[in-house]
Amino acid sequence: MIRACGVGVSYGSVHAVTDVSLSIAPGLTVLSGPSGSGKSTLLRVLSLVERPSRGEVYVHDVPTSSLSWSELRVLRSKEIAVVFQNPGDNLISHLTVGENLRAAGAADLSLLDRLGLGASATWRIGALSGGQQQRLAFGCALARGASVVVADEPTSQLDARSADLVLETLESLPVPAVVASHDPRLVALADLCVPLAAS
Ligand SMILES: Nc1ncnc2c1ncn2[C@@H]1O[C@H](COP(=O)(O)OP(=O)(O)OP(=O)(O)O)[C@@H](O)[C@H]1O
Ligand SMILES: [Mg+2]
Repeated sequence: MIRACGVGVSYGSVHAVTDVSLSIAPGLTVLSGPSGSGKSTLLRVLSLVERPSRGEVYVHDVPTSSLSWSELRVLRSKEIAVVFQNPGDNLISHLTVGENLRAAGAADLSLLDRLGLGASATWRIGALSGGQQQRLAFGCALARGASVVVADEPTSQLDARSADLVLETLESLPVPAVVASHDPRLVALADLCVPLAAS
């Protein structure tokens, strides 16, 4: 439902993203590439936080350049959930696991079982490992009812074991996900890999 056509982003003489076209298909899309290749920039454009310098981003075939910033904000809050790199930034630390999920809009806590957190509903966030926190963050993204989940380097601040938990979750998400990462294990899981080159 999100489609980029000929997207480019420049900051003065820095060409952060050059002529990218892609469709976010069901499954996992991974933006890969070395540091500075424009992964985070492209993610911001796909999540409607930033407008491209060139090209167009379509959401449900609507060209988003035709929308005002406030219309973009409404569309973003309805369609797109973002999971940040740092697990703590995604969750409300003084609420329990279950309360976080409810605050995100979950009608019940059945999602916790799917996230392997069924026994942790009453735990404080600080009692979870980084990987469990990131899992819960993806659960909250689903509870928001977004059509697409976007995540920038969701495993980069985790040890290998915690990262494994996140990889399992990403593999089984019921909505399309777009993830920026240079983690080769995450790239290997991709249904679509978009390699970006350093400019
Ligand atoms: N707001 C900005 N103003 C100016 N230059 C920027 C801005 N955002 C990004 N850039 C530049 O655009 C290029 C791409 O940056 P970006 O952060 O998208 O890369 P990245 O692939 O996410 O890198 P990393 O793997 O280190 O996170 C870099 O040269 C960066 O310095
Ligand atoms: Mg980045």
